[in-house]
This record gives sequence, structure tokens and C-alpha cells, in this order.
Amino acid sequence: STSPAAAAALLGFTAVAKNLNDTVTIPSGYTAKVLYSLGDPINTSTAAYANDGTDSAASFEFRAGDHHDGMSYFGLNVGGTAKDTTNSTRGLIAMNHENITQMFLHTSAEVASLSTTNRPASQIDKEVNVHGISIIEVQNTGSGFTLNKSSNFNRRITAATPMDISGPAKNSTMMTTKYSTDGSKTRGTLNNCANGYTPWGTYLTCEENWAGYFKRTSTSFSAKELVAQSRYGTTSSNGSYGWANSATADDKYDRWHIAITGADATADYRNIANTFGWVVEIDPYNPSSTPRKRTAMGRFGHEGAMPGIVTAGKPIVYYMGDDSKGEYIYKYVSTQNWDAADANGGLVAGNKYLDNGKLYVAKFNSDGSGTWTELTLTNTSIASYATYAFSDAADVAINTRLAADAVGATKMDRPEWSGVHPTTGDVYITLTNNSDRAKSGKYGLDAANPRYYTDTYGTSTTNKGNVNGHIIRIKESGANAAATTFNWDIYLFGAQSDANGTNVNISGLTNDNDFSSPDGLFFSQATKGLMWLQTDDGAYRDVTNCMMLAAVPGTHGDGTANYKVTNTAVPTNGNADQEITTFVGKDASASTLKRFLVGPKGCEITGITETPDGKTIFINIQHPGENTADADIATPANYESHWPASDTTSRPRSSTIVITKNDGGIIGM
Ligand code: FEO
Ligand code: CA
Ligand code: CA
Ligand code: CA
Repeated sequence: STSPAAAAALLGFTAVAKNLNDTVTIPSGYTAKVLYSLGDPINTSTAAYANDGTDSAASFEFRAGDHHDGMSYFGLNVGGTAKDTTNSTRGLIAMNHENITQMFLHTSAEVASLSTTNRPASQIDKEVNVHGISIIEVQNTGSGFTLNKSSNFNRRITAATPMDISGPAKNSTMMTTKYSTDGSKTRGTLNNCANGYTPWGTYLTCEENWAGYFKRTSTSFSAKELVAQSRYGTTSSNGSYGWANSATADDKYDRWHIAITGADATADYRNIANTFGWVVEIDPYNPSSTPRKRTAMGRFGHEGAMPGIVTAGKPIVYYMGDDSKGEYIYKYVSTQNWDAADANGGLVAGNKYLDNGKLYVAKFNSDGSGTWTELTLTNTSIASYATYAFSDAADVAINTRLAADAVGATKMDRPEWSGVHPTTGDVYITLTNNSDRAKSGKYGLDAANPRYYTDTYGTSTTNKGNVNGHIIRIKESGANAAATTFNWDIYLFGAQSDANGTNVNISGLTNDNDFSSPDGLFFSQATKGLMWLQTDDGAYRDVTNCMMLAAVPGTHGDGTANYKVTNTAVPTNGNADQEITTFVGKDASASTLKRFLVGPKGCEITGITETPDGKTIFINIQHPGENTADADIATPANYESHWPASDTTSRPRSSTIVITKNDGGIIGM
């Protein structure tokens, strides 16, 4: 485990105080600059962002999208013409634009009549284009990183960009649409949340809350289809933004409607939602390449896909969360062993490692052991599942959640980001919260999800579930990432430091490091031990804006530094502040966890990447001001936030910031 001395060396900055200011707060000795905000042009011919709702839909094919989220840095050579993974002054950033704050994209007059029905086509086109991915070239010529608007690598991928389907679900009759009658293509990627990267130099973007975007009005589907639609939640009557409800008829709007329009499945979009919910691979170094949806990695609410330690002659392994209440943790193990000769292989290497492999789901036992169960029709629990009769391997890939149900996987408190410690190989997964934990008819307590919170006012007691979240840690058996068994413990529990009650602030958090709802999690490869932790609102927004902390975790099961569940009895005292099982150990002293950053009002901190030398980190500030009421769009003084502007009139903008240390040192040391 990491010695306290090493931890102190890594966390050599003064903790940032919790605050509700409309700004980014970082430790003294550091500088933060805004790099890339919603609407910024990525070429030299697109006008500066007006930021008043008048920027055209088409212009967003060359502007930053909204809700910046997961991202990765890919080094370029000095001339900026080709890959050089060691270059810390010039590179590409591939970045997700998860969602939109709809009111800040349209004019005040348009916002006054926003609806999910009879929508102007131009508004839908803009919202579609604002989703997706940015690939941008950034360079530091001595005075800090800036966007190179002249780069030929710059590219927007949107919710309309053509995509290839790859892996076991390709050409399935369950993937056919009017757009792709052989089930080999679809248009767009959606709700791209966290991310991942490959040792062959490509970017992975993960489709999370895509289900709600689709409209489904008819229930004239097969019994099987209805089970699957119910399980995935593709049952909205209009879709989140009403993209199927354009005032102008066009196939590009029809495709958001899960509908049977004829006897032939290829004439309609009954299967359209099956083409979303995947990990998508993008080659940032090849601007003309077509993104590929990697169906062997399963279909669910993909939060992120982070690799295990990559070793020559061993499989490539990915850890993946499905962020919804009571959903599962998954692992993908490639059939092919890693060959370093593929290091520049691009999407062809992706075909080799990501189209053939085993998909596993996690079960956490109460004794601290666990198993990975392969999701395959050779498992009789899946082949003979009473709820849903799987047709073939494509069906198992498309309906991953149902296959995981069939094998009795452990229902978790919303698995968000995963990260693998670069030297120990321990896997960390944030479990952000679960308002339904320990509620009647919902999710019972178990060892891996052991907490709920009850509020008592007078005679009324309310169970609020697991409000603050926790971080679980997996150690694979035999230090083998492809193992089918593991041991686990809980690394850290969220809480406010002044919370009352037994077993609330279990991790002994202080003013310098207390947090709620862990979400983003990222291991610095440059420091080989520093873990960044980012938060998403949760129960703490009355006290502080969302934040980022730096941690130096120990190792699984190293006794005094970690928790291990020893008693999983279901609680009986409904009036307790927090009723949990018994734990041993203590963690998170100020020497191993420290708050590094607090964001502006209404934001979530999500997405982080670093230069190879660790001297620059890039952070995303997502949806500042998102709690502004639509009715206030014409009254800027009432906006919750104006960040990154410091005036009182600007609309707030999701942005990427660049953080450097004033002495040129490594971030977090
Ligand atoms: Fe997009 Fe689970 O956060
Ligand atoms: Ca998240
Ligand atoms: Ca979240
Ligand atoms: Ca968010």
C-alpha cells in the first residue's frame, strides 16, 4: 500500500473550502483557464458564438456541443500531423457532450413556447447537433493551451452522424431499420457520458441515458419486444425533447419514434432503440473514419469503459457501470491477447479486441468475495430464462440487462465511473446514490450496498435511500484482470462532515474533504497513484457547489486503511439517521483525501484528462446554471449562473478548463 509519506507528497496543496460562489475555486499556486465552451467555433470560418439562441442549427456542426463530460487526451507530434502519445504540448482532446440545457440554446421568444409537441424542425436540428462528441486539437506554445481552430483533426460527431454497428449484434434482425435494412448502421450517438480509451490509440464514448429520447406510443409489439422495452425504459410518450414530433415531416425525425409502420421491419423504426446503448469507438487521428458501435461490450446505460492494466500476451479488459438505480457492474474480456504490434492499429485493432470477447456481470457476496458471471446462452439460467426467451447471441448483447437479471447479479446503487489503479490493478467504481435503496418493493440492503438514510420530522419518517453514495473496490483473484472471481471492500463513503448519527460519516470526513454523490473517477497515469474524484449534486448542494477531490487510496484489504463489511443484517430501526451494517477500519484522513476544486453554481464536475507529463489537467464544468427557470430566460439577472462570464447578463456555458501549477510542477503534488 501507499505509505503516508508518499500520500503527503502527492497531496501537497492546501484544501479548497466548500463554497457556493459562481466561480471555479482551486488551491493557491494553481491557475485555471477556460479552453473550450459551448458554441465555440472549431474552424476559422464559423462566427463567434452569439450565445443568445440565434446561432444556427447547422453551425453546431462546427461548434462545441453542450454538457461537456468524459474526455481523453491523445498526443500529436511536434508538427501536429501524426500520433505521438508522449507529447505534452500538442494533442487532440476527444470529448463527450452528454446532454443540453435546452433553454440556453434557443431565443427568449422560442423558450417562451417550448413544448415536446409540434416542434420547429430548426430547434430539433440544433439540439441534435449540440449532442455528441468534439475532437479538437489543442497546443501549448508557451503561454498555456489553446484551441487550434486551423487543425484538420477538428471534428464534431453528433446525434445525426452515421455510425457502423460492429460485433455480435451487427446484421441482427433486431437491428434492422428503414435507414439500414441489413442492421449494419445507424445514425448518431446519444447522451455520451463517461469515456475510455484503448492501447491502440482510439477513444471510447459511452451512451448512458439514451432511452428517454425515444417516443413510443403504440404497444402493438411482440410480447418479447414489450418486455425488452419495459426493461430499458423506452416507453416515453413524446421522448425527452419531442424530436419525433417535428412540425416538418422527415425521416430524420421519424427515426426517434419506435414504431411499426408496415408489415416489413425494414420499413420502419421499431428497432431503432436497439441501435443505441452501446460503447462507441472513435479514431481521433482519422477525421474521416466512421465511429463503430461495439456491441460485444453489451447494451445498457453505459457510464464509462475504463481499461485494466494492459499487459502483452494478456486479454484487454474493460470495467463498465450501468448508471441507473439497481443496475449492474460489468466487465469485458477480449478473446485476443494484447500484441503491442497493434499499438497504432486504430479501428482495425478495435475489430480484433472489441468485437470478440466475453461479457461478465458482477455478483458481490456478503463475505467480501465476488464472482464475474459470463452472459452467454451456454449459461442455462439465461438460455431458459422464464421472463425473456433469448433468440441468439445478438439478442443477449442487445438485452444485456435481461441476461444479467437471469443470472441474479447484484443490484447496485447506480454504478458511475470506474478506474483501475495503475500499479495495484485494484478497480474502483463510484456508486453515486440510490434514493430507492431499502425502500419497500425496491432494493433491499446488501453488503455491497449497505446504507440508507431516514429523515424524521415530527411523527413522519421518510426513507431517502442511500443519499451520499460510496466507492467500491475490487481486487481480481491472482492479480489477473481476466479472473472470474474477486474480493471486494468499500473504499470510501460520502457524507457531510457535520452529519449527526451513527454510521453516517463512516469515513471520518472533515471540512477539507467531505463530499456527496461521487461520480467521476480517474487515475492519473503520470503520478501512478493519484486518484481524482468528481461529484454530481446529490444531497450537498445547499452547502457547496459540486467539487473535485484528490485521493491517494491504499490497496484492497490493507486493514486499517479500508472498510470491510462484517455484518449485513437488515436494519430494523426506521428512526435512525443512518442504519447500516458494521464496519471495521478507518480511512480518508486529510493526508489521503483532499478537496482540490469547487465549481460554479448549478454545475456538475465531470470529465478529466491529463497531458502525459502530468503537468496539465483538463476538467469539464458541466451545465452551470442548470437550475434557472425557463420563465427567467428574458431576465438574465435571475440566471443561477453566468459562468464562465463574470458579468450579470451572459447565459452560462458548459466549458473545459485547463489547470496548471504556477511553478510548472505536476498537478496534485
Ligand atoms: Fe451521465 Fe451517470 O452520469
Ligand atoms: Ca456521471
Ligand atoms: Ca451522476
Ligand atoms: Ca449531469
